[in-house]
Amino acid sequence: MTNVVQSFSEFFATLGLPTVLIFVTVLLLSMWMLSYSNSRVNWPPGPVCFPVVGCLPQLMISGRRRQPTDLLPWYDTYGDIMHIKLGEQHMIMLGTYELIEEAFVKNAATVSARPTWAYFIRRLVGKDGAGVVFKNGHAWKELRRFTLSSLRDFGLGRKSLEEKIQDEARYLVQNIEDENGKAFSPSARIGKAVNNIISIIVFGASDVHFIFNDFRHDYNDMPEMLSVLEEYMRIGQGPLSLTNFGRFLIPEKKFVLKDTFYCLVRQEVERHRHSFDPTDIRDFIDLYIKVTQEKLDPEIYTERNVFRIIVDLYLAGTDTTANTLRWSLVHMVNHPDVQKKMQQEIDQVIGQGRVAKMEDKARMPFTEATMLEVFRMSPILSFGVPHATSETTILAGYTIPKDTIILGDLYRVLHDKNNFEDPYNFKPERWLDGDGKVIKSDKMISFSIGPRVCLGKGLAEIESFIFFTTLLQNFTFKVPEGEILPSGVEGLHAITFSPHDYNVCAVRR
Ligand code: HEM
Repeated sequence: MTNVVQSFSEFFATLGLPTVLIFVTVLLLSMWMLSYSNSRVNWPPGPVCFPVVGCLPQLMISGRRRQPTDLLPWYDTYGDIMHIKLGEQHMIMLGTYELIEEAFVKNAATVSARPTWAYFIRRLVGKDGAGVVFKNGHAWKELRRFTLSSLRDFGLGRKSLEEKIQDEARYLVQNIEDENGKAFSPSARIGKAVNNIISIIVFGASDVHFIFNDFRHDYNDMPEMLSVLEEYMRIGQGPLSLTNFGRFLIPEKKFVLKDTFYCLVRQEVERHRHSFDPTDIRDFIDLYIKVTQEKLDPEIYTERNVFRIIVDLYLAGTDTTANTLRWSLVHMVNHPDVQKKMQQEIDQVIGQGRVAKMEDKARMPFTEATMLEVFRMSPILSFGVPHATSETTILAGYTIPKDTIILGDLYRVLHDKNNFEDPYNFKPERWLDGDGKVIKSDKMISFSIGPRVCLGKGLAEIESFIFFTTLLQNFTFKVPEGEILPSGVEGLHAITFSPHDYNVCAVRR
């Protein structure tokens, strides 16, 4: 083998650099032409895609800034449905509500898969997928139904869960109060408050204390599982992680985080086994033990799938809502007038004597409008979660082959001036009609649409409402003197879209 390599390098050395470059160019061009010669494929327009690298060179030249806005100029050139190729992966970008509806709703039967073969996803869950976020076909449908009904059993939509969120909101207020109006970064404690809620659902309140060391009364301690989760959420490199370039972009040691995380969850399973009672299922971990003992449907309710649901809920239930709340405060410090108006409504409907409850929402249209505007301005999953075609599918007249990644550009829909006038300005009033009532819009798709629509939407809405109103009921948020206002448009675009770190002063009302 060494001899072969040596002979090759000697051969190329005799050719000289220009000949080698011509050789490589001809080879790449032939591969490119071959990849386009499949006459059955009728790709939508898009930038020229080179072999191996796809349209990465153009992305790099276009000075992309790793923002959800990066691809917007391309739609102006190629149209609302675009074909791009990143590395070896063909991807279709859908840039309007109508196209996303055509794909995710009308063609749901063939556009609801996840690209489990793509590098990053394959490394996380294996090429057959697992759990609910990254499972396909009949097993996904069954596991999704099971997850939703279990979430309801553990309190979603019930008073008991609402009370736990209210408790947490009270504790968050107390914790912020300790800052005495001085400048601080709210990011970590918002993350811990939201994480405590999903932890209660997944791990159960009492048992969580074992791993989180009485976490509910000490935000200063970083629970091990949360610190692993936060690092884990940063390992993705946007859509490039889906390509084989992921191998070079994501250091191998980063994937160890997954094992560390799984190990912590397994420890929790073992702890639950000691007090497990099949007639009293307390949380998702108990459910996991029950389901794997009962062997319901051995093809679907495998240990791997049910275990991964726990991980899915923990991952999906923390960073998403926490980032929405982080963006909410960014918009409040940028728009003190909106903050004041929301506080007036809170004072009128809730007063200062109690914490917000979901029933209040119907009587608080300005608050609801402000929350809708946060969801619209700052969609934390700007391109949603990748879909894939499970069969050849016709979209907007184009024939899209099986196993193509389909991304719904939620960000573009939410920032399209045809849907929302003056879209880059934060204007809660756009959600209110002349009588002050909230206007519903089918273009409001921060949680996506179709059978894959966010499974935690209900929980996210309860948490966002109670945490956000309780914060503004108790404090006025301001930017510390001498510091610049945090951007309400640009942020950190990794797996989720979060604001850049910022400080606030929380002045007691
Ligand atoms: C503001 C908060 C949130 C936003 C904006 C959001 C948004 C989304 C979006 C856009 C998707 C992709 C849907 C698709 O593939 O078309 C999704 C999927 C999902 N979300 Fe959320 N999410 C939020 C909070 C949550 C919470 C709190 C949970 C946990 C209970 C959760 C659990 C999930 C799950 C399990 C899926 C995958 C569903 C499936 O593949 O069938 N999300 N979410």
